[in-house]
Amino acid sequence: MKYTYITKNHEETFRLAKGLAPYLKEATNLLVDGALAAGKTVFAKGLGEGLGVKATVKSPSYTLLCIYEGRLPFYHFDAYHLNNVEDFYGLGFDEYLKGGVALIEWASVIKDGFPGGYIHVEIAEGEAEDERKIMFSATDDFHRDILEEWQRHEDSCL
Ligand SMILES: Nc1ncnc2c1ncn2[C@@H]1O[C@H](COP(=O)(O)OP(=O)(O)O)[C@@H](O)[C@H]1O
Ligand SMILES: [Mg+2]
Repeated sequence: MKYTYITKNHEETFRLAKGLAPYLKEATNLLVDGALAAGKTVFAKGLGEGLGVKATVKSPSYTLLCIYEGRLPFYHFDAYHLNNVEDFYGLGFDEYLKGGVALIEWASVIKDGFPGGYIHVEIAEGEAEDERKIMFSATDDFHRDILEEWQRHEDSCL
């Protein structure tokens, strides 16, 4: 099952992620893909705010990992400089995956052999300049349940 949203500007992407955050549990992984400037970091910022992170969530492009305190610990990774999941292991990053919510930007290179299930977030261009198509899917029951809970609530608010 894939859930697809169209956002018309960065605020809508931020709000979409913020709205998903309350449904996330310990050991949730979100693997986020999309081209440069697709909105991966905007999505991460919204998720962080929804998780109650008070600090400013920034792109971890150079540091590879930023850790924030929220309702749950929020681990924000950037895999842009990694070649494969072995690099992810090599940095000891798999250690962080059970303790909170992990969001990984540029995740496509580490999907093969990723240790555990995840919510896949794909951000693609929309029809207009500021429009984005954001697709959510899950690879296991744990993450599927989270998306379904979120969707049930979204539906009841229509
Ligand atoms: N619908 C949208 N959703 C998210 N960002 C958008 C949207 N429309 C325009 N933008 C702009 O695109 C850029 C996305 O930047 P960023 O989140 O850093 O991208 P990424 O992390 O994917 O490289 C920002 O300048 C943002 O204002
Ligand atoms: Mg980014």
